[in-house]
Amino acid sequence: MPDNKYDLFSPTFKANPFPIYAHMRIEDPIHAHSAPNGATIWYITRYADVVNVLKDDEHFCKNPANARGIDAQQHHKQPSAMQRLINENMLFSDPPHHTRLRALVNQAFTPRRIAKLDERIQVICNQLIDAAVLHKQMDVIAAYALPLPVMVICELLGIPAADQAEVSDWSQAIIAPGSKNLTYRQRKHNLRAFTDYLQTMFAARRIQPEDDLVTALVQAEEADDRLNEAELSSMVALLLVTGHETTVNLIGNGVLAFLQNPDQLAIVRDNPDLWATAVEEMLRFDGPVETSTTRWVRKNIQIEGHILKRGDIVRVVLSSANRDESQFSCPTKFDIQREDNKHLAFGLGIHYCLGAPLARLEGRIALPALFNRFPNLQLAEPASRLNWRSGVLFRGLKQLPVSFK
Ligand code: HEM
Repeated sequence: MPDNKYDLFSPTFKANPFPIYAHMRIEDPIHAHSAPNGATIWYITRYADVVNVLKDDEHFCKNPANARGIDAQQHHKQPSAMQRLINENMLFSDPPHHTRLRALVNQAFTPRRIAKLDERIQVICNQLIDAAVLHKQMDVIAAYALPLPVMVICELLGIPAADQAEVSDWSQAIIAPGSKNLTYRQRKHNLRAFTDYLQTMFAARRIQPEDDLVTALVQAEEADDRLNEAELSSMVALLLVTGHETTVNLIGNGVLAFLQNPDQLAIVRDNPDLWATAVEEMLRFDGPVETSTTRWVRKNIQIEGHILKRGDIVRVVLSSANRDESQFSCPTKFDIQREDNKHLAFGLGIHYCLGAPLARLEGRIALPALFNRFPNLQLAEPASRLNWRSGVLFRGLKQLPVSFK
């Protein structure tokens, strides 16, 4: 029977969810929570179970229509243009639709294209730090962790600097409306403005290709197949939102972890080659995505004695799996030299994060750039007073005030 004995949404829980997750892993690893509409949401907290769910496309799916009966699908009303833009992207689709979209985007989002961004990311980091240096204090989130990924993903796509703020505002208001307090009418307006802007951009790139991701997406072709206009818009919206809702937390949570663990900062300062493993430890220790996006039970399945029924909702708790003591030794220790760090911060299986190479690159550049420039960086407020973002999906700070000499 579902029960709501854990308050998984309160600010106190969000400030430090790890002790509750540790308790759940031992006592209640497949926890049934009841949603306000009566649906059952299963929270899965052990590493091994999380891995199994993420790899199991037979029993779990991302598109709710695949978890409903055929009849329910037929009676379900036609989705609106807004719903299509939000839902018809890879993250919320299943094979074969997902396979097709992922194959097409893989043609555009290549390791070569990402690796080329190295120098540019360094320049953006330095510009943001220069702007902050005049003040003796800074909010790492607003001044550094948020603008960096927004600028990088917009540049990668080919959105000119003058349009970046507006375009990322539109996409956020459409896909993450909770982050803005917009009415349905305002969201509709944003949708129209966003799709008009993109359609003009797609048409321009078809006539005159540029060296950017939008051109590559427009040109991407797999077995005589291409992305249509709606799919292109949906893909760009997904990249814009995933590109900046997550990496901001990688940088914010990572800076906080180092400020609270100065011994680890001293180690990486002495040996900068360790920044690569340090970023992996940042992802494990306090990763940006707390629970995966919603999965639906497609076929009844029994896990650890619980029967998850077709149509139930499943959330795998990545932040818990990444601190599971049966997978990681001393999981509550931030250890940048940790070996065999098979964290799940980027998920697993067919929906494994497309942007992982880009996020890693940004982390490996952004953290050393900040700590090298400000050797005396310190928290300007006790960590216990910091505010964490609400919501089940992400784990990140609202502000991270620091001081430096
Ligand atoms: C540290 C930063 C990031 C983290 C921790 C992260 C984490 C994740 C996770 C956990 C998933 C899988 C969600 C699920 O299975 O429910 C995912 C999927 C995805 N991510 Fe990321 N992400 C990050 C950065 C990025 C960036 C920078 C981009 C794009 C530029 C991106 C694009 C995507 C896309 C498109 C998917 C969907 C893939 C699919 O469904 O096949 N992510 N990410």
